[in-house]
Amino acid sequence: MPNTPILDRSVQWRLDAGTIELHEPTYRETVEAILSAGLATEVVGLISAGKEASVYLARYDGAPLAIKVYRLYRTSHRGGRPVKADSMGWRAAHEFEILRQAWKGGVRVPAPARRVEHRLAMRYLGDDDGPAPRLHDVRFGDAEPFLDAVLDGVRRMTRAGVVHGDLSAFNVLVHDGDPWFIDLAQGIRVDRLGTAPWQQLTRAGEALDHGLRALAAYFRRYRLDIDVPSIRSDLVASFDTRGVLR
Ligand SMILES: Nc1ncnc2c1ncn2[C@@H]1O[C@H](COP(=O)(O)OP(=O)(O)OP(=O)(O)O)[C@@H](O)[C@H]1O
Ligand SMILES: [Mg+2]
Repeated sequence: MPNTPILDRSVQWRLDAGTIELHEPTYRETVEAILSAGLATEVVGLISAGKEASVYLARYDGAPLAIKVYRLYRTSHRGGRPVKADSMGWRAAHEFEILRQAWKGGVRVPAPARRVEHRLAMRYLGDDDGPAPRLHDVRFGDAEPFLDAVLDGVRRMTRAGVVHGDLSAFNVLVHDGDPWFIDLAQGIRVDRLGTAPWQQLTRAGEALDHGLRALAAYFRRYRLDIDVPSIRSDLVASFDTRGVLR
């Protein structure tokens, strides 16, 4: 888990001992790391540079790939040391696992290819002109079929045992007319409940609620309604097979 005291201590020790560098890798360093890890044979350029991760367009023997590289450092606002190293390898590993689970279940997510440390290679969604647009940036004449497809994808994801932890019009790409779900770093497995099913199912229910509301906010501009409570309770009932939340 990121940010546990033990991890932070060990990271701090490495900082103090000077065995890790205290700066975010540059573009050139990241490109070299991607190539030397064997994730790609060519890096074409940056698709997106965000708060937590950057996404690169790359190629493996000519075939396009998207490579998500988590940032190593985040500034701590809670005082103390100015720089805090997060265990981003863990985030990338989790996103890889959730992507694989959803993809195996037939959900439209970018097929994961490989992960090395905090770098994750997956199918590139887009064409020669650029990456597929985010739903947030797309305007439809008639948005209803797309809304149906999005809700169908959410249901299918649940059947695959996954709840997207950060669903919104920013994390759905419109590719070849279909919705594709990305950014599954906060995804929740609902097929394997471990030792605290109540906790996990509660989190999953809340994430569904939050995600469906975010989608509803986007579709409202077309005067289309999403019945959040009803869809949420159907989905929760479908994965809460032992009735833990009832
Ligand atoms: N497989 C992909 N194919 C094409 N483009 C992608 C792919 N994955 C991500 N992108 C592009 O990169 C952007 C950021 O990806 P993602 O949402 O996974 O990262 P993020 O964690 O939201 O980053 P941040 O929140 O820090 O901006 C997406 O909005 C999309 O434009
Ligand atoms: Mg995102």
